[in-house]
Amino acid sequence: MIVMKTSKDDIYSGDLILVNAMHGIVSGVTSPLIPVHPSAPSILMCSHAADALNRLMREIDGWTSIVPVSGWRSREEQQTIWDDSLEENGIAFTQKYVAVPGHSEHQTGLAIDLGLRQEPLDFICPAFPDSGICRTFREKAAGHGFILRYPAGKEKITGIAHEPWHFRYVGIPHAEIMAREGLVLEEYIDFIRRFPYKSASYQIQCGGRIASVSYISADEGAGAMLSRGHCPAAESSSGAVSGNNVDGFILTEWRDADE
Ligand code: DAL
Ligand code: ZN
Repeated sequence: MIVMKTSKDDIYSGDLILVNAMHGIVSGVTSPLIPVHPSAPSILMCSHAADALNRLMREIDGWTSIVPVSGWRSREEQQTIWDDSLEENGIAFTQKYVAVPGHSEHQTGLAIDLGLRQEPLDFICPAFPDSGICRTFREKAAGHGFILRYPAGKEKITGIAHEPWHFRYVGIPHAEIMAREGLVLEEYIDFIRRFPYKSASYQIQCGGRIASVSYISADEGAGAMLSRGHCPAAESSSGAVSGNNVDGFILTEWRDADE
């Protein structure tokens, strides 16, 4: 059974928040930030996202060839990157590759830019080719909860140019559903509304367990909590709740495949 959050304000936090030009950051980072790798102590992510990244990297021995380039950014850092890029590269390039301050996924602590270990390393557009270790990383990413956030062909939906180096942690099973359905986060947030809590759910098997994913509006979510008197909790071994940063919550319930 899911234990849900109680406040409408909770729609602005969680692993599935949509952050783009239309939907800015409302909540600050809600879990601790840690360095993603000892070799780059200033590059931070939320601890659970950094742990997932390191599990993936261990599986493919990734850190020998891939470096972290940019993780969590404060709004001020995003503003500096925007201003510097505007001066160096002009407005067209900047709008394609740099999110407006207040609207960057890097401010969530759930995004990471990765680059092939080589010199020179471009800070805004690091090399992350579709071959070798980078391709292996991309192929394994969904299994560890990461999505390629700005794929080619979806520029009109994401508002950002193809960025092969920018990965966003959304968690399991959501990254796998998005990969299976060919959806970017904007599309996934809409797609999951087709599965209203208690009347429908999207089912997917991951490992030996089955996840049921559904949507509940901010009003209904907050009402349901209060009437059932549950203690608020974002996550447990049997379920998780994330805000979508738009209008509601995405619920994930797990059960064993043989139940
Ligand atoms: N490069 C991405 C869009 C950012 O600045 O958040
Ligand atoms: Zn990025």
